[in-house]
Amino acid sequence: MRRHLHTPLCDRLGIDVPILSAGMGPIAGPDLVAAVSNAGGLGVLGCTSMSADEVRAVIRRTRELTDRPFGVDLILPSRIGQGGMSVGDVADMIPAEHRAVAERIAADLGVEPAASATATATAERTERRAPGTERAGAGTERNALGTDAEAQVDVIAEEAVPVFVGALGSPGFVADRLKEAGTTVISIVGSTKQAEAVVRDGAEVVIAQGTEGGGHTGHVGTMALLPQVLDAVDVPVVAAGGIGDGRGMAAALLMGCEAVWVGTRFLATDEAGIEGWQKAGIVAAADQSPVISRAYTGKRFRMLPNDWTRAWEEAELDPLPMPLQPVLANQVLGRNATDRGGRQGVSMNGAGNIAGLIDRVVPAAEIVESMAGEAAELLAGAGRFVR
Ligand SMILES: Cc1cc2nc3c(=O)[nH]c(=O)nc-3n(C[C@H](O)[C@H](O)[C@H](O)COP(=O)(O)O)c2cc1C
Repeated sequence: MRRHLHTPLCDRLGIDVPILSAGMGPIAGPDLVAAVSNAGGLGVLGCTSMSADEVRAVIRRTRELTDRPFGVDLILPSRIGQGGMSVGDVADMIPAEHRAVAERIAADLGVEPAASATATATAERTERRAPGTERAGAGTERNALGTDAEAQVDVIAEEAVPVFVGALGSPGFVADRLKEAGTTVISIVGSTKQAEAVVRDGAEVVIAQGTEGGGHTGHVGTMALLPQVLDAVDVPVVAAGGIGDGRGMAAALLMGCEAVWVGTRFLATDEAGIEGWQKAGIVAAADQSPVISRAYTGKRFRMLPNDWTRAWEEAELDPLPMPLQPVLANQVLGRNATDRGGRQGVSMNGAGNIAGLIDRVVPAAEIVESMAGEAAELLAGAGRFVR
């Protein structure tokens, strides 16, 4: 008999198996998300860097590819500023010596800036919400990469997307609006303190991500983090960080988690929106290959090292905090360098330590099926050590 895994969170989200694919920047686009949702999991779109119109377009494209539930992920502010502070305003706050170091590194690497930094800053300073659309008494909430988080959230609510996932910042300023639209609000955390805070602010489900996870990451390992977050909050907990097969999934469910949130494993899929050489890099990586760098976003980000991260390691200055460093990196390396980039030496290749386990590129549905099947078998046999 083929065993089938199902948790209470599956019922709440309307999915068959408790596997959520992580909303990784533009990598997790409609193709990957629909493949995961069609296989019975929950695919989540990575929309942080997109304009509100782009968010609407990828939501609608996903709906053409699947009629199953899916989600949208945003990296929240990190409140860049009140009153409609623009990316250009943030650019003005970048110290001259940091800009000089970044430009020297880019020149050494042979990177042509897309536009002069000054011209880009001027253009971005005028890039505000259309007149009349600003909320009285409230500032424009811009997310970590400078896009307008409030406008993005408006679209998610208008389109009645079933699930919202917020990373880094608190979901407090969007939770009520989304819940009214019928959207389940989920937050990613890296510590028990953050877990308690996001639940206080309205998160209905918490994803606890251990430090071994790819992308932005905290200090506590998954094995230590999960039981402590499970004890700290009374909402469903989803496990993340270093989960790449049925063994990790079974361990997380056995601890009491109701699903897993998987990023790195889905990078090596046919549907992931990265270049072939980036997928090959994941397949070739060992457990120790990914490193933590602040060179792109100013926050700890686990990724495969490249020329840009190595140059900042050797530079006389440390990277700036978010949001200054991502604005600087985007200006010097070309807009949206922090998202994707096709250039091998300076592309931001997020990856977690589980990359060492990955030995081939497969369709995303195969990962959903094999993880869920293996975890079900392991959990069914878990009593064998008990006398
Ligand atoms: C390439 C890459 C990009 C990521 N981008 C985002 C993102 O845009 N938003 C987000 O909430 N998390 C992002 N993450 C983190 C994932 O959501 C997830 O928490 C993490 O990948 C889980 O650990 P794992 O990589 O070991 O599976 C990213 C991870 C990777 C590997």
